[in-house]
Amino acid sequence: MAHPSILAQQSVSALDASLDVAGVRLRNRVVLAPMSGVSDGPFRAIADAYGAGMVVSEMIASAQLAEGEHNAVQRTQRVGTGPFVIQLAGREARWMAEGARIAEASGADIIDINMGCPARKVTGGSSGSALMRDLDHALTLIEATVEAVQVPVALKMRLGWDDESLNAPELARRAENAGVQLLTVHGRTRCQFFKGQADWEKISAVKSVVSVPVIANGDICTGADITKALALSGADAVMIGRGAYGAPWAAGAAAEGASDPGAMPDGVGEIVEGHFEAMLEYYGPFLGVRNARKHLGWYVTRAHGDGETGRHWRQRLCQSDDVVEVRRNIRSCFNNLERIAA
Ligand SMILES: Cc1cc2nc3c(=O)[nH]c(=O)nc-3n(C[C@H](O)[C@H](O)[C@H](O)COP(=O)(O)O)c2cc1C
Repeated sequence: MAHPSILAQQSVSALDASLDVAGVRLRNRVVLAPMSGVSDGPFRAIADAYGAGMVVSEMIASAQLAEGEHNAVQRTQRVGTGPFVIQLAGREARWMAEGARIAEASGADIIDINMGCPARKVTGGSSGSALMRDLDHALTLIEATVEAVQVPVALKMRLGWDDESLNAPELARRAENAGVQLLTVHGRTRCQFFKGQADWEKISAVKSVVSVPVIANGDICTGADITKALALSGADAVMIGRGAYGAPWAAGAAAEGASDPGAMPDGVGEIVEGHFEAMLEYYGPFLGVRNARKHLGWYVTRAHGDGETGRHWRQRLCQSDDVVEVRRNIRSCFNNLERIAA
């Protein structure tokens, strides 16, 4: 492997280079993470419009998708023009295969398998990161998915279940042998949940045993984080999750070399207004106004901070069910911001 300092120098200029995944061309090396309850259609549409290298759907339970449940089907909706990944979770090969066929028919460029989710309700059902405790079973899901579709299949995982079983390299190697074309590694174990720091260096143990591209993930927010994560992991690309809270443009900005990709771009008021309108349309007014709250709260925090002004605007934007009132308040909140900035 090249010396980390050489990788660091290469990585900054290479971020805007496309990446080939078995014929699917990522626009650049910065990908928006799948985040249930966050990276829905409206959020991904903005990320895509602002130049994310690729966007990934929220996790979709394969059995629910196969049964045609509304929420599952809605998550497969393609938005934007860049590469679109649909992520499936599950514990039974036949549902993974069926879910993958449906996802492919919905227009996914890549199907991703979730073996990273730490949530008890997911691992308790023996899917998500619980699959890292039973690689033979995990492989049956991977093989069924790969066999079911023509599009490339990807796999997202953690470093292992806990510090005693850092088996990501073994899973990665076996997955590659089974036909997986892209790997994403969140540099934590399942038992860490989101605690501590992601260990980017441990991702290099995966990178060194496979030849398919590897994406490094976990705690990557700034340009400096990207440089360091790429240097330590040797990965081909990075994935940004929570760093895109209130900043759906972050992946695109990072790919252009921004040192603070979450910083608000000019005209942010229009982005927020557009996001809110898209939420209303996507979920209908009742759910739309409620589901928009977390995003509005994050936007306000980015714009006005955690102090009194931030609190004032969060209250006004996040406590009303009245669409007209929220719309008016979004305008005053972010117009105000532009006046302050000017
Ligand atoms: C609210 C939330 C929802 C998430 N949902 C998913 C999911 O649906 N599928 C998945 O593979 N990972 C999911 N993750 C994990 C992220 O994709 C990512 O691996 C993790 O947040 C670490 O990256 P970050 O530090 O950049 O946020 C979720 C994370 C958060 C915070």
